Amino acid sequence: MKTVACVGAGVIGGGWVAHFLARGMRVKAWDPAPDAEDRLTRLVDAAWPALTELGLAEHADKANLSVIGTLAEATDQADFVQESAPEKLELKQKLLADIDAVTSPDVVIASSTSGYGMSEMQVAATHPERLVVGHPFNPPYLIPLVEVVGGNLTQQWAVQRAADFYRGTGKTVIVMDREVPGFIANRLQEAMWREALHMVANGEATVEQIDLSITDGPGLRWPIHGPC
Ligand SMILES: NC(=O)c1ccc[n+]([C@@H]2O[C@H](COP(=O)([O-])OP(=O)(O)OC[C@H]3O[C@@H](n4cnc5c(N)ncnc54)[C@H](O)[C@@H]3O)[C@@H](O)[C@H]2O)c1
Repeated sequence: MKTVACVGAGVIGGGWVAHFLARGMRVKAWDPAPDAEDRLTRLVDAAWPALTELGLAEHADKANLSVIGTLAEATDQADFVQESAPEKLELKQKLLADIDAVTSPDVVIASSTSGYGMSEMQVAATHPERLVVGHPFNPPYLIPLVEVVGGNLTQQWAVQRAADFYRGTGKTVIVMDREVPGFIANRLQEAMWREALHMVANGEATVEQIDLSITDGPGLRWPIHGPC
């Protein structure tokens, strides 16, 4: 049974926790907020019926979650670290350096960031070569996609190990060849959202017409072969 450390346990960190638990892993979570454990427990409890219906892995158990008091204890003996702290560059730079300082150098540390490149975030780390982005879609325990990409100082073995790890947990992984601002899936979503706003603002279509044009149109085709 693998042990994953989840650093930051809000909407996305908690979603990762539920995913890893459902895949039969041990999870050690660390989050500095005083109500973090309550929020996390509620999130995992709310997710568990759906995860049970989808099929839990052998040994999957909510009791395999421990909420840990310090960052160093959380990452001790972890096979993989997933950081999901607030989207603030300075916070991420410091936190990733702090995680790096207390985690064995052969362990990959992944950030859930949806806005920053790893090149910007890994600047203060002593072992930046094992830092990658593992960008999920919300909620990470239901939507398979993870975009994996390293920064300028990341080594290929870390990207490969992160991709293998996520695939082993049942995720669909896109390994990016380069850092792309905003990540692919969000960029495509935003492109459509921009056009929807543009049509509404121009009086060309209503919100209801736009939604129906996708839910009962190409939205039915895209899950099978994508937009291209
Ligand atoms: N919400 C989404 O749809 C989504 C999707 C993909 C990726 N992300 C990314 O996931 C990350 C987390 O986003 P979220 O939506 O879960 O935010 P959130 O506000 O729900 O959770 C952030 C958590 O981090 C904790 N935290 C605060 N300071 C911390 C610190 N110094 N160290 C560790 N934890 C700390 C907070 O207590 C909170 O529980 C962000 O980088 C975001 O860009 C979000």
